[in-house]
Amino acid sequence: MSPVPFPKAATAPRVPSTALALQNFDMNYSLRFGEAWPSVRISLLSEQKYGALVNGFADVDHVAQELELVNAADFVSKSLQKVQHLQEGSVVEPAAREQSAPQEAPSEHQAAKLPPLSALVTPNIKCYTFPRGDITRFRSARPDVLGIFNYYLLDAASLLPVLALNIKPGDLVLDLCAAPGGKTLAILQTGLCGHLAANDISISRTKRLHQVLNSYVPKQVKETVCITSWDGRNWAELESGSFHKVLVDVPCTTDRHSVMEEDNNIFHKRRSKERQMLPMLQLQLLVAGILATMPGGEVVYSTCSLSQLQNEYVVERAIEIAETEYNIGTQVKDLSYFRTLFQNTFSFSSDCRLGELVLPHLTANFGPMYFCKLRRA
Ligand SMILES: C[S@@+](CC[C@H](N)C(=O)[O-])C[C@H]1O[C@@H](n2cnc3c(N)ncnc32)[C@H](O)[C@@H]1O
Repeated sequence: MSPVPFPKAATAPRVPSTALALQNFDMNYSLRFGEAWPSVRISLLSEQKYGALVNGFADVDHVAQELELVNAADFVSKSLQKVQHLQEGSVVEPAAREQSAPQEAPSEHQAAKLPPLSALVTPNIKCYTFPRGDITRFRSARPDVLGIFNYYLLDAASLLPVLALNIKPGDLVLDLCAAPGGKTLAILQTGLCGHLAANDISISRTKRLHQVLNSYVPKQVKETVCITSWDGRNWAELESGSFHKVLVDVPCTTDRHSVMEEDNNIFHKRRSKERQMLPMLQLQLLVAGILATMPGGEVVYSTCSLSQLQNEYVVERAIEIAETEYNIGTQVKDLSYFRTLFQNTFSFSSDCRLGELVLPHLTANFGPMYFCKLRRA
């Protein structure tokens, strides 16, 4: 009797998008990061750490007390204080010394090389994180009596591009790809913007931006934000050279999401064209950001990807295009002091050619987050 053949599958079994993402990263990032890749890889596949961005429109003292009770600390003020102590030559308090591993604390030599504190980062942003190695989760944010939520949970590394904007009083600020709005909310926490324009091409995601602002910001403050849903690539047709500070937080391969979630995964076979076109879209958005910046103003470009093709290469090409096609000179600003300032909280790559890169690490599982700042001549 001849064997009964197995029925043929109508289609080949589908490889999960997360597996495709991991294959792609193994191929590209093992070359880029060498021996460090297994550590970054396992961190990408492990639970991410969050930070609690304090909502200054809620009862801040109460929120701070609540977060300190669970042993979280505001990484921004803690880092700035430490540097200030070192710059002033005062002794770092024993408690502060105990909390940080000795090799991670900025040295006096490093602190001496930093610019004055006032010139360093966007002020008034408070974000609580648990110490290195502590994987406690924050409880969900809750509304106060007025219905305003007390903190916003986000990857704490995603605040670094906002801190790099270094917003000053009266600055006209554009957030070109703003939804769902974590960074817009952080920008609003400064209370310094003369005007804030928040744009995102996606209508559904812009709705989420509205919801975030409704839940976190009083109505009269929200009304000062100009929210639009334009294609950011064409911004210059609307307004050119009019902002002091521009944030270009582009769509990318969202590396952590891509290895963990099937839903909305850019490595889905159906989306391969879109994925291949990402660097081009990122480039067009960054060039648009440069054009939107006034002479002397600054643009911060950011992604949550480890890919050089989406990070350094995009920045380099945008600088070239601004120069050759628009006769606009730009200068890359040195952000290496971010490494000195925030090394207790984040694990930074030490060999990023342009800009800074936060690498996921099991003891500080934030990022990836790439950010680079350009000054328009
Ligand atoms: C990384 S997300 C932005 C996250 C946001 N900045 C935040 O912190 O919550 C990138 C955003 O770019 C938007 N986007 C994609 N193409 C765009 C375009 N051509 N113009 C403007 N926004 C675009 C996407 O809809 C997406 O919301």
